[in-house]
Amino acid sequence: TALELGDHPDHMAKEIEEQPAVVSSILDRVARRAADGSMWVGLGLPGFHRLAIVACGTSLNAGQVIAAALRGIGGVPTDIVVASEADQAVLGPGTLVVAISQSGETADVLRALDRFEDRHPVLALTNNVHSSLARRADAVLDCHAGPEIGVAATKTFTAQVVVGVAAVISALVASGRIDAGRASALVGELTDLPARIEHAASIAADRIPLLVSSVKDATGFLFLGRGAGLPYAAEGALKLKELSYRWAEAYPAGELKHGPLALVDEGTPVVVVDHGEQRLQANIAEVRARGGFVITIGGEGSDIPALGRRAAGDLAWGPATAPWGPLEAVVPLQMLARELALQLGCDVDKPRNLAKSVTVE
Ligand code: AGP
Repeated sequence: TALELGDHPDHMAKEIEEQPAVVSSILDRVARRAADGSMWVGLGLPGFHRLAIVACGTSLNAGQVIAAALRGIGGVPTDIVVASEADQAVLGPGTLVVAISQSGETADVLRALDRFEDRHPVLALTNNVHSSLARRADAVLDCHAGPEIGVAATKTFTAQVVVGVAAVISALVASGRIDAGRASALVGELTDLPARIEHAASIAADRIPLLVSSVKDATGFLFLGRGAGLPYAAEGALKLKELSYRWAEAYPAGELKHGPLALVDEGTPVVVVDHGEQRLQANIAEVRARGGFVITIGGEGSDIPALGRRAAGDLAWGPATAPWGPLEAVVPLQMLARELALQLGCDVDKPRNLAKSVTVE
């Protein structure tokens, strides 16, 4: 393990840092497949009218991002199925099931397939192409994230999103829903991602230790986002509770006034994924008016200005408007959870009560 870790203090730190390289290598594959035309031939699966994404935990949050991209780019209706609740799901004819699981061994996901696989084609999105999930699926997409040791998923989330979004673009071209020109423009928007992630990580490394020291005695945290930012808020809250054992809940910011605002008191930490949606400003003001300690992850002027920057020359990165939302925001969120856990003396690679691969229902 010491050998694998190199200079890194823990696996989580290493895996967070690997994200730009993981994304670059996925984008290289995408570029090769776009160049030789294989990107546009689809996945060899029957045509579909709608999708159902089945997953748990962090993979479910990645599924929410992929679903937003599908709806936003191709207008394809997409249901999200919490794998452990699959018994409740009714999938219409022509539904493609997309099962997302880093390990490919999650019992809840495999059990959900028992219910769906006879009547629906299954596409697996996994970091283990030799897994039970991969063997049972009709088609498999490899996340190519490399081994992830930390129990908290980090680079596999990012890999799932990028591989998933590339697959979405490819499937939408193959099914005639978008043309090749629009697809190339979207693939072009992905190419900035490694640089954006690196930028987000370096800003977060500067800002987070001090921010965390101001909130480390808080017993609970709220995470807010809107639209495409929401799955990232959910992922930030999941990481924080998993690693620091503090209560954390994610809400659509507009829901605040329908209940959670009652939780906000002097010093209550509220983390806002601010990808430029105007209405967030009013939500932030509501929290501040009650004395809440707001941490914004967003563009210029935010506490962690990790989204977009103005570089030299004519390259201007505005707020994240991509259909897959502010993916780079996940890096500060991972770092926030890790730093809080470390300041509280927790083991960031092996959180209590949890396992890397959950093979029981
Ligand atoms: C993520 O940090 C968690 N450890 C957990 O939510 C995990 O994502 C979930 O158990 C699903 O695992 P999978 O991707 O291997 O199916």
